[in-house]
Amino acid sequence: MQPVVSVSHLSKTFASGFEALKDINLEIRPGEIFALLGPNGAGKTTLISVICGIVNPTKGEVLAGGHDIITEYRAARSLIGLVPQELTTDAFETVRATVALAPVDAPLSVDPFFGSLYYGLLLSSITP
Ligand SMILES: Nc1ncnc2c1ncn2[C@@H]1O[C@H](COP(=O)(O)OP(=O)(O)OP(=O)(O)O)[C@@H](O)[C@H]1O
Ligand SMILES: [Mg+2]
Repeated sequence: MQPVVSVSHLSKTFASGFEALKDINLEIRPGEIFALLGPNGAGKTTLISVICGIVNPTKGEVLAGGHDIITEYRAARSLIGLVPQELTTDAFETVRATVALAPVDAPLSVDPFFGSLYYGLLLSSITP
């Protein structure tokens, strides 16, 4: 069965010259719950950020659902949902402005029906 996430020989060196990821190889199978454990600074967030297209890899290949995250980034990102570790929007921002910040490739935004349904649910869940 094709892995949902496949990481091959992935390395990341930041502009500072710091090598945060060095030759990472892993595969996540459909239905598998996969956790990254490691001390602060181990590179967990960097790896997740590369998979999600937030950080550019220096070397290696990442496939999401069989799609290369660089050359087929739209297809790859449409399969990924990211829950940030911390709040990444202004807590006092309006619902409209927050929804407008959603990545254009997120599944909810790609599908016009679910996009408007999601938007409607968000609005209806807010009391004046
Ligand atoms: N933009 C950057 N420029 C330079 N170094 C960075 C950058 N982002 C992260 N690093 C460094 O890369 C290493 C890995 O950081 P990362 O945030 O991926 O670790 P982590 O495992 O998620 O840590 P934590 O458990 O604290 O969340 C750390 O040494 C960090 O300082
Ligand atoms: Mg982290």
